[in-house]
Amino acid sequence: MAKISLDRNRSKGTISRYIYGSFAEHLGRCIYGGIYVGKDSPIPNVNGMRKDVVEAMKNLRMPVLRWPGGCFADEYHWRDGIGEQQDRKRMVNTHWGGVVEDNSFGTHEFMELCRQVGCEPYITGNVGSGTVKEMSEWVEYLNSDGDSTVVQERWKNGQKEAWGVRYWGVGNESWGCGGNMRAEYYTDEYRRFQTYCRQYGDNKLYKIACGPSDADVSWTEVLMKNAANMMDGLSMHSYTIPGGWNNKNRATVFTQDDYWETLSFAADIDRKIGLHAAIMDRYDPEKRVGLIIDEWGTWFQVEPDTNPGFLYQQNTMRDAMVAAVSLDIFNKRCDRVHMANIAQTVNVLQAIILTEGDQMVLTPTYHVFDLYKEHMDAKELDCYVEAEQTGTEKYPMPSVTASASEKDGRITLTVSNLEPEKAQEITVSLKGEAIRGAEGRILTGKMDEYNDFGKNTLAVKAFSDFEVKDGALVIRMPACAVAEIRL
Ligand code: AHR
Repeated sequence: MAKISLDRNRSKGTISRYIYGSFAEHLGRCIYGGIYVGKDSPIPNVNGMRKDVVEAMKNLRMPVLRWPGGCFADEYHWRDGIGEQQDRKRMVNTHWGGVVEDNSFGTHEFMELCRQVGCEPYITGNVGSGTVKEMSEWVEYLNSDGDSTVVQERWKNGQKEAWGVRYWGVGNESWGCGGNMRAEYYTDEYRRFQTYCRQYGDNKLYKIACGPSDADVSWTEVLMKNAANMMDGLSMHSYTIPGGWNNKNRATVFTQDDYWETLSFAADIDRKIGLHAAIMDRYDPEKRVGLIIDEWGTWFQVEPDTNPGFLYQQNTMRDAMVAAVSLDIFNKRCDRVHMANIAQTVNVLQAIILTEGDQMVLTPTYHVFDLYKEHMDAKELDCYVEAEQTGTEKYPMPSVTASASEKDGRITLTVSNLEPEKAQEITVSLKGEAIRGAEGRILTGKMDEYNDFGKNTLAVKAFSDFEVKDGALVIRMPACAVAEIRL
């Protein structure tokens, strides 16, 4: 039987709400069709934004949205996306599918999306093919109130007030699609570009340097050694790619071995964070600089008969378990992980939402974010899990993952039974106190079950299959399930 011991007196600090952030790139049908359909679309919209998708994002209390990429960010020239839509420059999105990008979704549209969702913008500027002047003027356009020519342009385009964007990325994957730079070269570029990203008024720009891919500690070492005092955050990208880059799994057709490989791949992000955190601790012992995991999630084969450059994949209970495992790790590492952004919001990779024409599907991953939302800005609580080892010989995994937090006197525990076919009992105790009662919600299904257009079987349901015994809570968790338990 598995046991979870909670301790109210031991905490790593506050779980930043930004850990529950998302990412929307000009890639496939994420922005166009997924979020933005234009004002004249028959699909119900407000100023061009799909009503259904915005509502779904609001329901998660989405705190922050990263845009415009991704690899796209280092090809994006922000001036192409302002002014009258019909006059905007057309380009070919060479990274993603070779389709024409008409720039109808630009800065004003992104800021309008954030306003409707109630989230903060996180913008990544172009280092790879852009200039310092271009990036500097974008910040000015967004944040300055001074009567300059750049600001007058914003006024002319209908926005009087400065938006006050805080989160600012200086390049994306500069070691790869963002310019193939060496760490030393990028570090100097970072230092130069960020110098001209000025602070305007009371708004304090939170500057995020391009960080490592996966466990590339040498990148982190060079960045931290030479630029830690000029950054607020260091990004990290880590995808779960079972089978490897050239032999990716299918999203919906997989074996139990694939399932365990996927979960153990996802859980390995804990080790990777640990490696980078140890370097960051040497240069930044106060933990001022946040590790910003601004791309994470599963990466499978694209669905048959879809554009390979659109990265469209379905999303099963296996993805839900990856989300639970990952978010538990981020919660437990909240002293260093200050933000995370799942890749991506709609129709791309481990999407939380899928759309097809005017239809929308909430994926199992969406429901995990829903179950975890009480953790946002709550105090992390020590949550010690003792569970049987399971998985395969090559990919061993504990059968239970969990994390806990406290806010306004109430404890939220998120707990998952990773066993795909076996229910199990989990006993939860609270150090020095008796548990009196609880409320629960759950998501459960077969490991390869998914929601589809016209077939919505997976949803969050009320859950009460638990009882208090001798001051502890005994939970009977069904197989392949994620639960939120509030004490
Ligand atoms: O999320 C898809 C792509 O993955 C992003 O554009 C890039 O940053 C990463 O390689």
